[in-house]
Amino acid sequence: YSKKLFTMSVCVCFLFFLQGECRNFIKVLLSQHGGLFVCGTNAFNPLCANYTRDTLEMVGEPVSGMARCPYDPRHANVALFADGSLFTGTVTDFLAIDAVIYRSLGDSPALRTVKHDSKWFREPYFVSAMEWGPHIYFFFREMAMEFHHLEKVMVSRVARVCKADLGGSQRVLEKQWTTFLKARLNCSVPGDSHFYFNLLHATSEIIHMQGRDVILGLFSTPPNSIPGSAVCVFDMQQLAHVFEGRFKEQKSPESIWTPVPDEAVPKPRPGGCAVQGSRFSSSTTLPDEVLNFVKTHPLMDETVPLLGHRPWVVKTMGRYQLTAMVVDTEAGPHKNRTVLFLGSTRGTILKFLMVPTGDSVSHSSVFLEEVEGFNPEKCGEDSPQARQLLSLSLDRISHTLLLAFPSCLVRVPTSRCHLHSRCMKSCLASRDPYCGWTRGSTCSFLRPGTR
Ligand SMILES: *[C@@H]1O[C@H](CO)[C@@H](O)[C@H](O)[C@H]1NC(C)=O
Ligand SMILES: *[C@@H]1O[C@H](CO)[C@@H](O)[C@H](O)[C@H]1NC(C)=O
Ligand SMILES: *[C@@H]1O[C@H](CO)[C@@H](O)[C@H](O)[C@H]1NC(C)=O
Repeated sequence: YSKKLFTMSVCVCFLFFLQGECRNFIKVLLSQHGGLFVCGTNAFNPLCANYTRDTLEMVGEPVSGMARCPYDPRHANVALFADGSLFTGTVTDFLAIDAVIYRSLGDSPALRTVKHDSKWFREPYFVSAMEWGPHIYFFFREMAMEFHHLEKVMVSRVARVCKADLGGSQRVLEKQWTTFLKARLNCSVPGDSHFYFNLLHATSEIIHMQGRDVILGLFSTPPNSIPGSAVCVFDMQQLAHVFEGRFKEQKSPESIWTPVPDEAVPKPRPGGCAVQGSRFSSSTTLPDEVLNFVKTHPLMDETVPLLGHRPWVVKTMGRYQLTAMVVDTEAGPHKNRTVLFLGSTRGTILKFLMVPTGDSVSHSSVFLEEVEGFNPEKCGEDSPQARQLLSLSLDRISHTLLLAFPSCLVRVPTSRCHLHSRCMKSCLASRDPYCGWTRGSTCSFLRPGTR
């Protein structure tokens, strides 16, 4: 089998050779025990290995990257370490048919999602993974299965698994998650008929804001719709609560999806984390009825509500979409302002200041500026392909943004205060929390702690 796969990858590499697909694309790069854990596509034969951080030398032998790293560099994947195990969201096969959330490498047994079951996944595109409480949360988009539409509809989701899951019994869900549940993310603008931003592109980390743990998501409309992007915010507590609510089911292939009545849900509640010292202290001893239920009912009925009932940023524009996001929650000299940086498909960065509104839940946004990120001098020929932003990150120490394009890495300062240096009025009117009018009559960057 592996010989066949090897031949296949060699053939495919031959086909794609001119496009450069056979390079080793690094798709996982994690910090672990002071070293680096790295997985690459390795010419359609993914491998993972540990490296020292300072000298980048390989430690030990490489291991298979299967279910940890995609074969094709274009496939989206996520990975994180938690409790000593590696949690990954990717595809396990060459043709990208078998999508998986997989745990491996730790002391806990390896677990995966059920194979080829469209109730669990349908062409998912993984966006991010987070540890929060006893769970790992995965944010992604996929083809919806719960609508009765003839055309394909993409929706955004959050799924979670318990870190302590040990898999099912020998009869049901053996070596598979017993705690996998998922729910739809509701990023919409209220109105007579709700307008949905269904495609998730990026999330922030989980951030603490005004006494809540929240996560920001950057969404867009589908390509064949009115172009638009929105930032919606979800309260982690409310998000987790959806997983305690009702399950959704389709009674027969022709019927519509409906909530499962409470009396039809077996006990203990399917999908819960095993509790030490309780009757079912391990997921492997759960009754078959419970395991069968969770196997066939991974979808929750309710959607995850957005905080404040409306997006914090909505941007509709002619030709480009917003696909990348970083958040600075410690902007300004007092480290108490929040600035959003949104990367566009044109290679520019849109910068917004978040301003709390009266109700202490919502924020409104002030558009600050649009900054060119693509630099033809460093990045070579200017084209829409060359301007595809692959990643955007914030370097808090140097107060700069790092933008990765297919052929270059560009560093851009978080602010350009000098542009407002002519007069105090324009400096203050810029509302840029990084800038201030300082002694010497100039508009300059205010380091944290500046008075
Ligand atoms: C790399 O390090 C991780 C975490 O320390 C460990 O679980 C894994 O076995 C190591 N992998 C290899 C290929 O040495
Ligand atoms: C999304 O949230 C709005 C309220 O903010 C609600 O009216 C609407 O029904 C929700 N949509 C879904 C599909 O749950
Ligand atoms: C930030 O902190 C400073 C100093 O404590 C305070 O004067 C200012 O009002 C705060 N700004 C916001 C938006 O909370």
